[in-house]
Amino acid sequence: QISILDFGSQYSHLIARRVRELNLYCELYSCQVSAEELGKHEITAIILSGGPSSVYDEGAPHVRKEVWDLISSRQIPVLGICYGMQELAYTFGGHVQPGLKHEYGKAHVQRIDPNHTSPLLHNMPDDFVMWMSHGDKLDKTPEGFKAVAKTSNAEFVIMENIEQKMWGLQFHPEVTHSPQGNIILRNFCIEIAGAKPNWIMTDYAAEFIESVRKQVGDGHVIGAVSGGVDSTVAAVLMTRAIGDRFHAVMVDNGCLRKDEAVTVVKRLREDCHVNLRCVDASERFLGLLKGVTDPEQKRKIIGRTFIDVFQEEADKIQADSGRCDYLLQGTLYPDVIESISYKGPSATIKTHHNVGGLPATMKLKLIEPLRELFKDEVRALGIALGIEENSVWRHPFPGPGLAIRILGEVTAERVKILQEADAIMIEELHKAGHYRAIGQAFVVLLPVKSVGVMGDGRTYEDVAAIRCVETTDYMTADFYHLPYEVMGAMSSRIINEVRGINRVCYDISSKPPATIEWE
Ligand code: XMP
Repeated sequence: QISILDFGSQYSHLIARRVRELNLYCELYSCQVSAEELGKHEITAIILSGGPSSVYDEGAPHVRKEVWDLISSRQIPVLGICYGMQELAYTFGGHVQPGLKHEYGKAHVQRIDPNHTSPLLHNMPDDFVMWMSHGDKLDKTPEGFKAVAKTSNAEFVIMENIEQKMWGLQFHPEVTHSPQGNIILRNFCIEIAGAKPNWIMTDYAAEFIESVRKQVGDGHVIGAVSGGVDSTVAAVLMTRAIGDRFHAVMVDNGCLRKDEAVTVVKRLREDCHVNLRCVDASERFLGLLKGVTDPEQKRKIIGRTFIDVFQEEADKIQADSGRCDYLLQGTLYPDVIESISYKGPSATIKTHHNVGGLPATMKLKLIEPLRELFKDEVRALGIALGIEENSVWRHPFPGPGLAIRILGEVTAERVKILQEADAIMIEELHKAGHYRAIGQAFVVLLPVKSVGVMGDGRTYEDVAAIRCVETTDYMTADFYHLPYEVMGAMSSRIINEVRGINRVCYDISSKPPATIEWE
């Protein structure tokens, strides 16, 4: 594996993404990882990430001496990026000048000696554009390091020590604003370190299926499925591994999208042969939501009731099959990165509410097949497993479902109205070819009525808002610039076909300061 030691840069997870895109397996560790932990793995190369600190600051993070000893004894190639390069200078006797001036944006990088053939710059031109984002910079390279490239603002933007197999970059090859950054990462990981591009989803599926068989033995596994891509892929993997000893449970909380329960049951049971039970608890959920208008209250009721229903079903499965040993969880690699990355002394940890509420009291061991994967790798795995494309590319859907998209009280009648409007909107998005470019799209039913005219009569009905956002991480988002014609088609179909809605608006707020959902 390629090991990334994280010094807290906002780009560290991107280094991992870019390395994975080269079909290389990599893992991210805190920069203060012990030699014992790191030494357990077969490491082909190490990348030191950027970070917000200054190397000479008191309390600035550094690689442990024992880790440097490990690197040297195993002769592991090292690439330092930004702070990572300054860390090389700090450790091996160079010097870093505290930033008088911050450099942020695109910079023209030039080879110092066009006749010098650095393996890191193989297939690269003599001049190229890379993204800079730093305060401090090197003013002296360590003994044994050679300056390879510069910019008009900095003398040392690439340095190398061929003998020790160490390279430093002042710029960030991992961001998309560095168009040829992937060539440099490829040169380092594959050409220099000799990593083999064998991280391929079909192989992963086969390996995973084999390892689950060993781990679970003749045990039973239970897991909740929602119809979203993560739980679908996880359920199919488990089914391939242990067949009917995997028990999938889908809870219909009465706030799902139109025909969702039927579609998911068909897809998972018939197409993917998953041993699935679908519990229709709509009346129970809607009964408990009666009269509730506060968003957080809705979330609490739905979360708690979900756990109760799931637990009851788990008890039944346990009774029927005589045992239940594991609980399936759809944890993804970004959640893992979030929990292990270097946070510095004063970092705030983001609260992440996209993780489903699962029964903390269940005394089951966890099984997390997707914990090494990024979202797009989960999609690739889904395709490799033969899951239908449309279900692999579905937008995420929140656990509380339509309940947090119906502002005010949630009733069966309002759920029905919203389901119809939402289905039309999604159909039009597919028709116009915009669905994949959008991170999430949905309709919100407002607790507002407005006057309209239909035929010769006055109407006084609900207002619906369409929300389409562009986002990669759901932490920030921009409203999607949907063409007017598409908006028009959605609006006229919703107003004509859905009884109870006579006005449609389009939400043009970004996150922040708005959020994606309305509640
Ligand atoms: P916001 O509205 O905070 O949403 O910008 C960011 C992402 O989180 C989803 N979301 C939820 N998911 N339970 C969930 O499982 C929730 O209570 C919840 N609230 C928001 C939202 O759909 C978006 O993808």
